[in-house]
Amino acid sequence: MTTNRATVLVVDDDRDLLQLLSFRLETAGYSVIAVDSGEKALDQLAICRPHLVITDLRMQGIDGLQLLEAIRRDNPSLPVIMLTAHGSIPDAIKATHHGVYGFITKPFDSKDLLSQVERAVGMGGPSEREGRPYIDEAWRKEIITRSPLMEDLLHQAWLVAQSDASVFIKGDSGTGKELFARAIHKTSHRCDNPFITINCAAIPEQLLESELFGYTKGAFTGATRNYKGLILEADGGTLFLDEIGDMPIGLQAKLLRVIQERSVRALGSAQTVSVDIRLISATHRDIREEVKQGRFREDLYYRLNVVSLEIPPLSERREDIPLIVNAVLAELAERYDKPPKTFSPAALEVLIAAPLRGNVRQLRNIVEQAFALCTTTVIPASSVQGALQDQPLEMPSLKDAKARFERDYILKLLKITGGNVSQAARLAKRNRTEFYKLLHRHQVDPATFKAASPQ
Ligand SMILES: Nc1ncnc2c1ncn2[C@@H]1O[C@H](COP(=O)(O)OP(=O)(O)OP(=O)(O)O)[C@@H](O)[C@H]1O
Ligand SMILES: [Mg+2]
Repeated sequence: MTTNRATVLVVDDDRDLLQLLSFRLETAGYSVIAVDSGEKALDQLAICRPHLVITDLRMQGIDGLQLLEAIRRDNPSLPVIMLTAHGSIPDAIKATHHGVYGFITKPFDSKDLLSQVERAVGMGGPSEREGRPYIDEAWRKEIITRSPLMEDLLHQAWLVAQSDASVFIKGDSGTGKELFARAIHKTSHRCDNPFITINCAAIPEQLLESELFGYTKGAFTGATRNYKGLILEADGGTLFLDEIGDMPIGLQAKLLRVIQERSVRALGSAQTVSVDIRLISATHRDIREEVKQGRFREDLYYRLNVVSLEIPPLSERREDIPLIVNAVLAELAERYDKPPKTFSPAALEVLIAAPLRGNVRQLRNIVEQAFALCTTTVIPASSVQGALQDQPLEMPSLKDAKARFERDYILKLLKITGGNVSQAARLAKRNRTEFYKLLHRHQVDPATFKAASPQ
């Protein structure tokens, strides 16, 4: 895959090491640009397009992490390998959050250096498609997108799928976390083995424990048979721990043990059984906050979060909306064996501008509803507006909830009294002036109720 005339930008403030690295890489056929500071690296990046950057982590001025951040911002698909000395673990962990491609520890081993460089160069680089052999492949077929942000994320997903590293997927509700987890499994070497999902938020603690770890017959009341549990069920494959942020703290310790010891012990059993799984976890919660609050174990978080993928909300990739809408429409027409329908341009515009805080899940629901209710083949904007209003609202603030209650209450009173304000005020135990103020604040006209009243 390596073209070997690939260009590598090497950054290190240790001149001797810089020379040594350049020499090794040039001997292997790479073209090398060597600079001794983060500042000079940024200058180079403005004028040349290397296939790979290798940078020292600790440097005076702009350090490796800052350089990485700048690269992620301006050139997100450019792979970066970090040189780390004396096992600087916390910094290295920070770098993984910023999507570093790999690490080389100093003093470096030439073989490791060249194999990492070869892999990195084969997979990234200046051309969008070059080096991305997977781009049209089946594993990612369900993830409909044309957003560069998502393409980058898919690239990272594909890379991590080639290893056994634990993956932590973050993202708001309905952004496609489960879809990504499945996609990673499909393109990994584990694809012929099971993909097992468990939703840690949906199951009570005791049941979650027995579901995950299994039990022996008689381990507890109701355990009428042996059950091997989902962790073992996933042996050789992938275990997807959905809503991991909701896992009770007691179980977190048990899960950590499984990861550390690569073995499971069923409830009621004295035996441990070794297990080989890749873990993918997901949550819509702010997991760092959970760690800070002491609700999630930090050591477990680091184990689960070897690589993190953060799926952007639909509002940051609105270009995907028409694409997803059309795909869902085609799918529905086929499923119900109905003639195809389309959205009018105005309807699409409404959707593209809608808040869609429920992301792709909400978008799908809206399209399904419009498809079901609309009798014409071109779905008008009014159908979309209707569907948007019927979407469950987000949790309102206390102030909004109170205001909404107050308004509904007033409407009810006016309905009962047929628009008679004095009577309504008496029922509400308020004087007329106060009641009129309320009517004014909520812009309610009592006359409407007189007309609607049956009397
Ligand atoms: N890029 C996409 N293209 C097509 N369909 C998508 C895409 N992303 C998500 N979906 C669909 O949206 C729905 C929600 O996706 P998924 O369950 O993966 O999201 P999630 O992030 O796990 O959501 P939640 O937090 O609510 O569990 C599914 O029906 C999925 O098929
Ligand atoms: Mg989900």
